[in-house]
Amino acid sequence: MCGIVGYIGKKEAYPVILEGLKRLEYRGYDSAGIVLYDGENLKLSKTKGKVLDLENKFAEEKSTNGSVGIGHTRWATHGIPNDVNSHPHYSNSGDLVIVHNGIIENYASIKQELLKRGYTFTSDTDTEVLINLIEDVKKNEKVKLGKAVQIALNQVVGAYAIAVFDKNKPNEIVVAKLGSPLAIGVGDGEFFIASDATPFLEYTKKAIYLEDEEMAIVRLKKGIKIRKIKDDSLVDPYIQELQLNLEQIVKGGYDHFMLKEIHEQPVAIKDTYRGRLLVKEGIIRMAGIDDNLERILNANRIIVIACGTSWHAGLVSEYIFEDLARIPVEVEYASEFRYRNPVITEKDVVIAISQSGETADTLAAIKLAKSKGAFVFGVCNVVGSSIARETHAGAYTHAGPEIGVASTKAFTTQITVLTLIALKLAKEKGTISKSEFQHHLQELELIPDKVEKALLQDEHIKKVAETYKDAKNCLYLGRGYNFPVALEGALKLKEISYIHAEGYPAAEMKHGPIALIDEQMPVFVIATKKGHYEKVVSNIEEIKSRSGKIIGIVTEGDVDVKNLADHVIEVPETIESLTPLLTTIPLQLLSYHIAVMLDKNVDQPRNLAKSVTVE
Ligand code: M6R
Repeated sequence: MCGIVGYIGKKEAYPVILEGLKRLEYRGYDSAGIVLYDGENLKLSKTKGKVLDLENKFAEEKSTNGSVGIGHTRWATHGIPNDVNSHPHYSNSGDLVIVHNGIIENYASIKQELLKRGYTFTSDTDTEVLINLIEDVKKNEKVKLGKAVQIALNQVVGAYAIAVFDKNKPNEIVVAKLGSPLAIGVGDGEFFIASDATPFLEYTKKAIYLEDEEMAIVRLKKGIKIRKIKDDSLVDPYIQELQLNLEQIVKGGYDHFMLKEIHEQPVAIKDTYRGRLLVKEGIIRMAGIDDNLERILNANRIIVIACGTSWHAGLVSEYIFEDLARIPVEVEYASEFRYRNPVITEKDVVIAISQSGETADTLAAIKLAKSKGAFVFGVCNVVGSSIARETHAGAYTHAGPEIGVASTKAFTTQITVLTLIALKLAKEKGTISKSEFQHHLQELELIPDKVEKALLQDEHIKKVAETYKDAKNCLYLGRGYNFPVALEGALKLKEISYIHAEGYPAAEMKHGPIALIDEQMPVFVIATKKGHYEKVVSNIEEIKSRSGKIIGIVTEGDVDVKNLADHVIEVPETIESLTPLLTTIPLQLLSYHIAVMLDKNVDQPRNLAKSVTVE
C-alpha cells in the first residue's frame, strides 16, 4: 500500500510527481504529500485527503519550483490519516526527508533508543522513526547518506520501499526496497522513481525494478549505482523496456475505471487465451506448464493460495481441476496458510494467484511453500511483479492494467487462465475425452462474445440496481461453479457500496442464513440452466415462501425462475464450467450502479487499497 514518486532532472518536478501520485492513488488515498527542493530550501506540503486536496493546498500556499522532489500517497498503517502523519517526513535536523511504503515492525524499540538520545517526533508513524535513525547513523558514523541508509536498513525489521533526499546533497535520491515494489525510470539526463512504472510512462520506457534487499543511489550526473543492502556488493542494473501504453491507464471516456474494466472483459479474456487456445489444432499451449509438465502431473495435490477476489478465482479453479483433471485441490487464504504450519511436501504444486503480484500475504505464503520444496506456479496480471519473479514458473493473465480497486477483469481472466491449465492437464492425464476437450475449447473461444452480450443487459441491470440500492443487507447464493461467484458478487457489493452482503452455497441457506430472510432481504441467486438448476429452483421456492426478494441470474430463455423471481437478469448459455465467466458480469454491473447511485467513490472505496503490500 502507499504510492511513492520521485523525480530528479531538468524538468519541474512538481507536475511529474503530482500526476504520478494521481496514477498511484490505487495504492492508497487517505493522505498525500510532496517535498520539492528549489535550489536552496526544501518546500513540503502534505495533507489528509486525496492528491486533489494536495494540489489545492499547493495552489493556495506554496510555490512549486524545483527540479528534484519526492511525493507520497498514503494508506495508513501507523497513525491515523491526518496532516501530521502524512508523508514526506523530515528528520529532526530538517535536512533529510523520506517517503515510505511498508511497515517498520521494530519501530517502537528504535524510537525508544532515539528518544533517549534526544530525538523528538511529531507524528505517530514508523517512517519518522526510520528517517531519524538514518540521520542518527549519518551523524554518529560520519558517513554519506547512501551508507547511512544502508546501515539503518540493516537494523530494521519489516517491509519498505523508500526514497530519501538530503538537502545538502541535492543531486541524488537514495532509494531502497524490501517487500514493497520500486521502479526507477531512466530518462535522458533525468530519473524517475515510483512504486510502479505508470507515473513515468510518457517520459521513458526504460525501467529498472529493484529486487528485494537492494538499494540505489540515483545521481543526476553519475547515474545509478545499485547495491545489496546486506553485504554492500554491487549489482549490475538490468534495464527493461516497458510494454505498457499510456492509453491503457486512462479512463477512456468511462466515468470510472471500474466501469471501463468491466467493459474491457471481452477483450481481456481474448488477450488471455490468445496464442494459448488453439482450437483448430485442438491444443492448449502454455510455456509455463509445458516446461514443467512432469512435475505438475506428478503432484499429489494442488494448493491454491490467494486473497480476496483472487481467492474466489482460486475457488472456481478447485471445481475445474477436480472435475476435469481429477487432481485434488485445496484453496487457502494466503494469510492463514502462511501462519498455520501447513503440511507441504515436494510432491505438492502450489498455484499462487494475484492480480497485482504484490500482495504481501501471498508473497510470504509462496516463500513458505518454496522453503518446503513445493513447486510454485504464479498466475499474475502485473508483468515483472514480485510474485511473478518469486514463483518457479507462471502464466500472466494479460488483462491490462486494472486500476479500479474492485477487481473485475482480473477475476474473469484469472478464471480463463486456470481453465486453460485445468483443460491442458486433463488432456495430458486422459481424464477428459477428445471430443469433450474440443467442445471446451470451442466454448471458451465463444466466451468473449457472450460476455459482450451479457454487458448489453446494462440498462436493465441499472433498473434492478435502482430497486435495491437502499437495502441494508443482501444475500448472494450459488451452487457448484457458481458458489464462488456468489462470494465474489457479495464482495463487490460490500467493498464499493458499503452494503452488508454475504455469499453462501445455496443449499447452506437452510443451515442458518434462512433465518435472515424477510421482505427486506434481496437475495441474488445464480440459477443458470447448467449446474444443479432444479435444486437451486427449490432454494428459490424456500426464499419466496419467506417473502424474500429474489433476483435471479438466469440462462437466456429461462421460464421457471422467471415465474418465481421479482427480477431476472439473463446471461447467454454455455457449458457449466464456464458459467462463472458470464454470471459474474451482471453482479459486477449491479454493484457498480448501486455504488454510483449511493454516491460512493467507486474507484477508491474507503479504507481499501488496490495493492495490499502489508500483512
Ligand atoms: O492483487 P491481488 O489479486 O493479490 O489482490 C488480492 C485482493 O486484495 C483483491 O482481490 C481485493 O480483494 C479486491 N479489492 C477485490 O475487489
